[in-house]
Amino acid sequence: MSRINSKKKTTVRTFVNKKAKNKKITVLTAYDAFIASLLDEAGIDAILVGDSASNVIHGFDSTIPITMDIMIAHTAAVSRGTNNALIIADMPFLSFQPSKETAILNAGRFLKEGNAEAVKIEGGIEMVDTIRRVIECGIPVMGHIGLTPQSINRFGGPRIQGKVKDSQTYLKESALALEEAGCFSMVLELLEIETAQEITESLTTCATIGIGAGPHCDGQVLVTNDMLGLRQEGFKPKFLREYANLTPVISKAIEKYISDVTKVNFPGEDESYYKK
Ligand code: KIV
Repeated sequence: MSRINSKKKTTVRTFVNKKAKNKKITVLTAYDAFIASLLDEAGIDAILVGDSASNVIHGFDSTIPITMDIMIAHTAAVSRGTNNALIIADMPFLSFQPSKETAILNAGRFLKEGNAEAVKIEGGIEMVDTIRRVIECGIPVMGHIGLTPQSINRFGGPRIQGKVKDSQTYLKESALALEEAGCFSMVLELLEIETAQEITESLTTCATIGIGAGPHCDGQVLVTNDMLGLRQEGFKPKFLREYANLTPVISKAIEKYISDVTKVNFPGEDESYYKK
């Protein structure tokens, strides 16, 4: 979509500038053009095309099954609905882990085929060499540490990270290494609040974007479907604030449609469009 308004385009520089000025950065997820256009028009800084699409769109119970081709299709759709927000594509499981070459080629596909402007890569210090190479190829990278959902089987469930000394040390060293490698930002997911604050204060050119990591991060991200109440029953992480509850609204509309068609209340005979 070409830019048709006077709002400023978010770039990776915006993240760094906002961090420097102590201004909060807003990020939400989107997977399609329409929701992306709503986020964009509302003035969101960045849209993450999250691999959470695997759960919230495709009905899987983890992010592991989603593929590059599906993620690229979502990213291209989001890009068509967006004018100003920075578009960050989430690199899915096994699209970057096998080798640096794999990571560069797949990250490049997001820019070439999906029109993304940055990619997100899960992992701490062990992924830094790969991330550095991707950035050297001109592709901005958002890191992601803490609870990294692609490794959910290793974590044994969604547990808060950074509670014990070893975990705190790993997270702090990872954050510094990701900044040093050139990440413009990093997601801190499910992190103990003080560890998230310490990491945020230890970084100067890399903005922290929290999800379940407390208020001291440079910005926040939520899964849009979750914050709109479009979630599977029983799923409500403790950190989630629900800004709307759209599920009953949609269910009611569908029930009303079924009832209207069944009772021949829709279409009405007086609808003008099929009258001569
Ligand atoms: O995939 C996703 O939506 C994410 C956010 C939870 C940060 O990674």
